Amino acid sequence: MEALRTRIAGELERARARTAQLADAVDDTDLVRQHSPIMSPLVWDLAHVGNQEELWLLRDVGGREPVRCDIDELYDAFRHPRRERPALPLLNPTEARGYVATVRDKVFDVLDRVRLDGEPLVDQGFAFGMIAQHEQQHDETMLATHQLRAGEPVLAAPRPPAAQVPVGGEVVVPGGPFTMGTSTEPWALDNERPAHRVHLPAFAIDAAPVTNAQYAEFIDAGGYDDPRWWTEQGWRHRVEAGLVAPMHWQRDGDRWVYTRFGRTSPVAPDEPVVHVCFHEAQAYAAWAGKRLPTEAEWEKAARFDPAAGRSRRYPWGDEDPTEAHANLGQRHLSPAPVGAYPAGASPLGVHQLIGDVWEWLDTDFHGYPGFVAFPYREYSEVFFGSTYKMLRGGSFGTDPVACRGTFRNWDLPIRRQIFSGFRCARDLSADEIG
Ligand code: AVJ
Ligand code: FE
Repeated sequence: MEALRTRIAGELERARARTAQLADAVDDTDLVRQHSPIMSPLVWDLAHVGNQEELWLLRDVGGREPVRCDIDELYDAFRHPRRERPALPLLNPTEARGYVATVRDKVFDVLDRVRLDGEPLVDQGFAFGMIAQHEQQHDETMLATHQLRAGEPVLAAPRPPAAQVPVGGEVVVPGGPFTMGTSTEPWALDNERPAHRVHLPAFAIDAAPVTNAQYAEFIDAGGYDDPRWWTEQGWRHRVEAGLVAPMHWQRDGDRWVYTRFGRTSPVAPDEPVVHVCFHEAQAYAAWAGKRLPTEAEWEKAARFDPAAGRSRRYPWGDEDPTEAHANLGQRHLSPAPVGAYPAGASPLGVHQLIGDVWEWLDTDFHGYPGFVAFPYREYSEVFFGSTYKMLRGGSFGTDPVACRGTFRNWDLPIRRQIFSGFRCARDLSADEIG
C-alpha cells in the first residue's frame, strides 16, 4: 500500500511538473490568449485540471469541503465549447496557479489517509490514476496548443534517436481470436474494459507508420486533387478546408518545410507523417491500394503474442515503457525516424505502434461488449456513435501513464492539430492466405 501511495504521489507530481513547464514557457498575455478557435487558452487547461482534481479527489474520494464551488461551471468542458472559453471570467494566471496548488496540497493530505482498496473508485488507486492521466492528457492538448501558437520558439528538447534498423514493408498477422481490451489493468479507463475475444481473419499491416517521404509521393501524384481516393465526406472536407498537404507544411521552392514549435526546417523524409486528419489518412491508404486498419487489427498487431497465444500489455511485453521502447512523454518534440525503436517492436515485427504519432483507424467509437460507464458518462459514453474515429498508440506528446496497448483515443475525422499519423493495412488475397 505504501508503494502504491508513493507511486501515485510521483505520478501526480510528474504531471504537475509538465503542466507547469508548458504554462510557464509563455508569459501571462500568451497564457490567456486563444491561439486557435479549436483550442482553449492555456490558462483554461491549467485551472481545469485542478478543478477535475478537486471534484474527484477532494470532494468525492476525500469527502472534503469545496476549495472553490463558484468555478465548477467555468471549467466544465460540456458547458462551454473551446471557442467561447477566452470570453469567460476565468481565473487569471496567478489565481489559477494558486488554485491548483491549494487543491494539490489537500489531495496529498487525502492520499495520506484514504484506503486504496474496497470501493471501485479508489481500489488500487484508480481515481488518482484517472486524475494523473487526465492531467497528462491535457498536457498533450497544451502541447498541441503550443504547436499552433505563433511567435518565437519557447520549447526545446533533444532530438529523438536516429534509425537503428531498416524497417519497411508489411507484416502478416495470422487469423484467429485474440483478447482485446482489459479487465485487469488497474488504471485502465472505462472504454478499455472489459477484456473480450475478437476473431479476425489474417491481414497485412505496415511494419511502420507512413513516413513523410511516402506521404509526399501521394501529394506529388496529385492525391489531393483526385476524388477517387477520398470518401464523399472526406472529399467535401478536403475542398471546403482547401487541404493540400499536412498541417504546418509549406512549399519552399521544390521542397517541403514544416514549422514545429516555432522552428522551420526541411521535412525529414524518414519520420512518420504527423498532423494529418482521418480523411487524409484514408485517401493516402486508398491511393496506396490499401486501407486503414480497424481498431481491432491495430490492437492485435500491437498486443498479440503468437508463441504464447496471449495479449501483452505493450508490443514489447508486459513491462512499462522505457526510453528504449518508445518515443513518449514529451522527451522529444517530434516523431522519431522509422527504425528508431527496435526494442519496442511487437513479436510479429511491427514497429513504433506506441509513441511517435497517434494512428488513425477506420473504426467508430463504441463501448466493448459489456461496457459500463465508470466513473462518469462524460469520459467516454457520450462520445459513442459515428461522429468520432479512433486513434491508438500515443504520440511523442503522450505520457506513458496515459498510454497502454489498450488505451483508446478518439477525435473528429477532420481534426489534425493533434499529433496524428497512420499506417496502412490490407486484406490478404486467397493465395497469400495459402
Ligand atoms: C480522450 C483525448 C479525447 O482530451 O478530449 C480530457 C480526454 N477527457 N478531459 C480529450 C479528456 C476529459 C479526451 N480524449
Ligand atoms: Fe478534461
